[in-house]
Amino acid sequence: MAIEQTLSIIKPDAVGRNQIGDIYSRFENNGLRIVAAKMMQLSRKQAEQFYAEHKERPFFGELVEFMTSGPVMVQVLEGENAVAKNRELMGATMPKNAEPGTIRRDLAYDPDNPDSADNAVHGSDGVDSAKAEIAQFFAADEICPR
Ligand code: PPS
Repeated sequence: MAIEQTLSIIKPDAVGRNQIGDIYSRFENNGLRIVAAKMMQLSRKQAEQFYAEHKERPFFGELVEFMTSGPVMVQVLEGENAVAKNRELMGATMPKNAEPGTIRRDLAYDPDNPDSADNAVHGSDGVDSAKAEIAQFFAADEICPR
């Protein structure tokens, strides 16, 4: 199996709920190593650039507002099939549609606000997008592959 790297972002909702440790445990307990990490407050420009491919979608403004509403924790995860493994651990985009046991269902679903798209985590959706997303946040010498 291929050793890959993927970009993960713990979003402002999960950082605000103090869930970084829980999410890191899920990564580490499932064969993903954290090989780079930084906490940061995204600027509007950074968020707009990161989500540029979605700029025509109706929720774009809301997504940028959400991602700039507080600090995020950004990390590079490494492991066998890291891109797909991380997506599996995250679960479906909308917390209400995510399976129990996934990060989004367990940590982001709010029965009082079931249609919320605040979904705790981002993960790259492919090996090529992972490379591009990692380069947006980390210089090569900030990553410590094993
Ligand atoms: S995915 O994972 O890329 O297939 O998901 P997609 O549905 O294409 O969504 C792309 C990102 O937009 C976020 N999203 C939303 N934000 C706010 N409101 C609504 N309604 C909404 N729907 C989708 C979704 O969380 C994806 O962000 P990331 O950070 O990539 O998960």
